[in-house]
Amino acid sequence: EELVELGKVCLEQDILIVSDEIYEKLVYEGSKHVSIAQLSPELKEQTIIINGVSKSHSMTGWRIGYAAGNDKIIKAMT
Ligand SMILES: Cc1ncc(COP(=O)(O)O)c(C=O)c1O
Repeated sequence: EELVELGKVCLEQDILIVSDEIYEKLVYEGSKHVSIAQLSPELKEQTIIINGVSKSHSMTGWRIGYAAGNDKIIKAMT
């Protein structure tokens, strides 16, 4: 519900969302990770997800990460 409200503001104000989801796999039992990008097609377009392997695969120090988002922005970043 909090993400839905944040998403509404970001869409209304055309704010690009950078969502650091590195703790995606580390959630308490019974909890579920929710990405703001999955809430609507519009929010998916508006979001750049950043993630990496240091938390999910106990690979701290390796500095392996990635970004996912719409083509235009990822191409510009590349
Ligand atoms: C919220 C958050 N994002 C990103 C990172 C970056 O992780 P790393 O540099 O180990 O890939 C960390 C590391 O502690 C973190 O706490």
